[in-house]
Amino acid sequence: MSKPRFRPQLSAALHLQARKYFRTLTSTMDFSSRLQTLTAQTEAALDTLVPALPADAPAGPARIHAAMRYSLQAGGKRLRPALALAAAGLAGPEAQANALPVAGALECIHTYSLIHDDLPCMDNDDLRRGRPTCHRAFDEATALLAGDALLAQAFLITAEAYANRPALAAALLRELARASSATRLVGGQMQDLLAERAGTATASELDFIHLNKTAALLEASLVCGGLVGSLPDAAITELRRAGRHLGLAFQIIDDVLDATAESTALGKTAGKDARAGKATYVSLHGLEASTRAAAEETTRARAALASLPGDASLLLGLADLMLTRQR
Ligand code: IPE
Ligand code: IPE
Ligand code: MG
Ligand code: MG
Ligand code: MG
Repeated sequence: MSKPRFRPQLSAALHLQARKYFRTLTSTMDFSSRLQTLTAQTEAALDTLVPALPADAPAGPARIHAAMRYSLQAGGKRLRPALALAAAGLAGPEAQANALPVAGALECIHTYSLIHDDLPCMDNDDLRRGRPTCHRAFDEATALLAGDALLAQAFLITAEAYANRPALAAALLRELARASSATRLVGGQMQDLLAERAGTATASELDFIHLNKTAALLEASLVCGGLVGSLPDAAITELRRAGRHLGLAFQIIDDVLDATAESTALGKTAGKDARAGKATYVSLHGLEASTRAAAEETTRARAALASLPGDASLLLGLADLMLTRQR
């Protein structure tokens, strides 16, 4: 008899529960309650999509699953899932519930990128999401593997969850793979390290870094949500445009917060970029120009979002939150 295969799937009950909650989301409801609903459903989805003990690996080492969940469930803001769910929500609550697996996959990719970003060979950080980093709580090799496994898990989740819609599955997998690739997220991280080693970067090199290490996945989040909602090509193009501008604004604010906020508020080490000699928007352009640029990018993102069919109020609220956030 063949061994049962582990399929990271949402139960029918979880899907129904999400649809029920998503039906209650109306544009008259206040933004933070709507966001809280998206986040709560994301947390529930992640708990089953990245289990402590997968059914097909009862004899495998629990340590790897523990390390994955340690970083995943450490209280991130869940902005990428929220963007995906909000974009899918343009097509209604059923599409929004259908987007939960890919929203979880996006958070897995993001969390992998953070675990690796914190490694001693990269940013060498001790604090993440208010806790010791993965390699501090476990060890370097375990953190490396936990990141690898979360990246693979994202593709497994997506392939399994959308198997009954093969064209959608292929489009989502392509989007996730491209955003994570050597030309996008990984390429941006590479250029970030090269700039740190060189001790300098031009404005266009910094744009490349921001566009890829950060904007790529935010862009993919909106696009994946739109794909699940079967939005027309023109809307997907606008989502991509919005994601690009939101991503640039988001990383500029990340650089500003690193220079201005406290570690306790951020849940990660503040002041680290200047100490490490990172090329950041703040180091290149100064605080005032950074704040202005982030606001301008947000305005561009808002214009793209406002042109979408349907009620974009949730997406617009997310754009504002990403600009005004304190952590
Ligand atoms: C931090 O991302 C890394 C960047 C891309 C700037 P977030 O600020 O979204 O981190 P979490 O998920 O809330 O921890
Ligand atoms: C991280 O950029 C981007 C990715 C993880 C891909 P940073 O290095 O600025 O992120 P933080 O400040 O450590 O969260
Ligand atoms: Mg970094
Ligand atoms: Mg870092
Ligand atoms: Mg940073």
